[in-house]
Amino acid sequence: MKIALLGHGNVGRGVSGIIDSGNTGFTKQLEITKILVRDASEATDERMVFNIDEALDDDIEVVVECLGGIEFPFSCISKALNMKKHVVTSNKKVMATYYDQLIALADKNDVNIIFEASVGGGIPVMSNIRHTKRVDEISAFSGIFNGTTNFILDKMYKEQKPFREVLTQAQKLGYAESDPGDDIDGHDVKYKCCLTGNMVWDTSLSLTDITVFGIRTVNQKDIDFGKRHQSTLKLIGRGSKNDRQVQIFVIPEFINDNDTLAHVGSNLNCIVFTSTNLGIASYIGQGAGTFPTAHAVVQDLVSLLNGEDLKISTDEKFAINNKEYISRFYVRTENLVYFEDYIYKKIDPDTIITEPMDLYKLKELIEKTADKNLFVAGVSL
Ligand code: HSE
Repeated sequence: MKIALLGHGNVGRGVSGIIDSGNTGFTKQLEITKILVRDASEATDERMVFNIDEALDDDIEVVVECLGGIEFPFSCISKALNMKKHVVTSNKKVMATYYDQLIALADKNDVNIIFEASVGGGIPVMSNIRHTKRVDEISAFSGIFNGTTNFILDKMYKEQKPFREVLTQAQKLGYAESDPGDDIDGHDVKYKCCLTGNMVWDTSLSLTDITVFGIRTVNQKDIDFGKRHQSTLKLIGRGSKNDRQVQIFVIPEFINDNDTLAHVGSNLNCIVFTSTNLGIASYIGQGAGTFPTAHAVVQDLVSLLNGEDLKISTDEKFAINNKEYISRFYVRTENLVYFEDYIYKKIDPDTIITEPMDLYKLKELIEKTADKNLFVAGVSL
C-alpha cells in the first residue's frame, strides 16, 4: 500500500521509522513513497517534497497527516479525500474542529478517515470503542487524556519540581504540543474528549460547549493539599450520556489514592469506559511520544490494509449540558469574596472548599473574581 506522509516532526518521524524498517508483521506491506516537509532545509531523503500537490501522486492510496495545526492540515486532508485517498491523522485539533465536514467528505468520496493516534497516544482507544460497541452501549468515559500535564503533576507530586521546569522537560521529550498552552489549559483534553464522545455516541459534538479548566496556575501548595488528604491531583476529562443529552468537561480533580487513576504516573494516559455488559474497563499506556503515537498511526494503516469496516456515523444528535454534574470544588484565589456564600470549609485565608455546585455556577463565580492566578479542582471531601 503506497502512502504519502504529511509532516516529519515528532510523530511523522516515528511513522517513517516504523514503516521503513519494514521488518514486523504487516509493515512489510506498507510503503511511504512521498513525504511532505516545509522546505529543502528539512529534506533528508529523495522522497521529500515541499508542496501538497507533489505529495498526492495518482498511485498514493493513503495519506497520513502528522502536520499539526488546523487550517493547512484541513486543506490537505480535504484535497486527499476529494482525490479518493483514505486519510489517517494523528491531529486531534483538526479532527475535532472539522469533524462533521471531514466525515461527510470521506463518505461522499467513499473512503475512510481514521484517527487512532489522536486520542490516548499509543493506547488503542478508537479500536477499543469500535470493539466494545459491537456488543455494548457505552454510557460514560473518563480519565487522564494528556501526557504532558500528567508528567508535570506527577513530577510536582513526587519530586516537588517547579511547574515551569517540568513543562520544559516535557517539551524536550516531545510530549507537549507546539503551543503547550493547549496542554496546560486543558484544550488538548477537550479535543480528545470531543472525538471520544463522537465515536462512542455516533455523533458530532460542539467543541465550544465543552467546559474546560486547566492546570496553568497550579502550585506546590495545591499538590500538598491533595497529599494531606490521601489524594493525587490529575487533569481529568469526563463524558457521559443520558437520553438526548451529553455531559463533557475537563477539570483538575483530587483523585482519592484508592482509585487506579491516582497511580497513573509519568506521561501515561488512562482511559476508562463504562458499558452495559463489560462494565468498567480501563486502558493504560503511553499517551504521548514519538513511537507510541506512531504505533497507533501504523495500526490504522494496517486496519485499512485489512479492509476493516471503518465507517464513522454522525447520525445521532446530542446537546452538551453540564448542569447535572454537581461537586464540591477546591478554590484558591486572593479574591474569595465572590465565593463567600458558597463556603463549605475554609482551608486558609485564600483557599476554600465550596458547597456543592454545578460547573456553570463555578465558572460564573470564577469569572467574577477576575483572578488570573486562581486555581480550581474538583474534590470529594
Ligand atoms: N501533547 C499531547 C499530550 C500529545 O501531552 O498528551 C499527545 O496527544
